[in-house]
Amino acid sequence: KQKVILDCDPGHDDAVNILLAGKNSGIEVLGITVVAGNQSLEKTTKNALNICQYLGLNIPVYAGCGQPMIRDKQLLAGDIHGESGLDGPVFEPLKRKEEAEHGVQFIIRALMESDGDIILVPTGPLTNIAMAMRMEPRIIPKIKRIVLMGGCYQLGNVTPAAEFNIIADADAAHVVFTSGRPITMVGLDVTRKVLCYPQVVERMEKIGTPAARLFVDLMGHFNKSQKQVFGWEGGPLHDPVTIASILDPNLLVTKPMYTEVDIRSVQSYGRTNCDFFGYSHRAANADVAVDIDVDRFWDLIESGIRAYGS
Ligand code: BDR
Ligand code: CA
Repeated sequence: KQKVILDCDPGHDDAVNILLAGKNSGIEVLGITVVAGNQSLEKTTKNALNICQYLGLNIPVYAGCGQPMIRDKQLLAGDIHGESGLDGPVFEPLKRKEEAEHGVQFIIRALMESDGDIILVPTGPLTNIAMAMRMEPRIIPKIKRIVLMGGCYQLGNVTPAAEFNIIADADAAHVVFTSGRPITMVGLDVTRKVLCYPQVVERMEKIGTPAARLFVDLMGHFNKSQKQVFGWEGGPLHDPVTIASILDPNLLVTKPMYTEVDIRSVQSYGRTNCDFFGYSHRAANADVAVDIDVDRFWDLIESGIRAYGS
């Protein structure tokens, strides 16, 4: 089983990523660390706990950073994910609580105690990961790989240049992209190809289990807001492409690229400048996803839902 830490800001697509990883025979989730992003830390932590409780997952949840490393203003995404950060599903009263340990401390502890076999899977702003790297640099060589959802080599979704998870804490993203560890960058270039069309929602609804119900309720809100904001018929299910790509190493086509986060300019702040054509002659620091097997992705989502049984 591949050991992973999910670092996330649930968030509808983060929630589906937890669902996908939670009961998969190929994945062991050591912990879920939460960061502010789609909503405040308080809300994203509660959402992670609600998802785990609903799905019966005994994965420890750790609250991490509630603010970016340097920038003053927290960027939130209430337009897409709603006031709660997870509008749509209605949950039973929450019985679970987050762990006492801080998310950054957990990441450090888990990596220091490991044999270098953990993949970090960030699907929110990179604050927790960067803080862990700065606080305890000895964890860096212990990270097997970082498979992150963020960035784009083409068009952004917050500005023409920048994607949400990167612009929300570009300094943290800079720390991660300069860490020297292998990075798979799952950016908008591929996640915009996995649009959750009504046919997909109907297909999952037919499974007819509580896990399928959760997926349908999540996508109900997500698709509505994606349509309002971007005009998509089906919302791009960004975050689960990370776990799906670990489950199936052939899911993505990637290209090694030297990638630099823009932390200086005004117009292009937060852009992941990916040297697609190798102009800079600098060594690649990221495997950037350039294509995805869309049918295979939805098959993985379906079997992820089915893994919860009836
Ligand atoms: C990313 O931003 C968030 O709103 C989503 O959860 C995803 O991680 C897409 O840009
Ligand atoms: Ca996210």
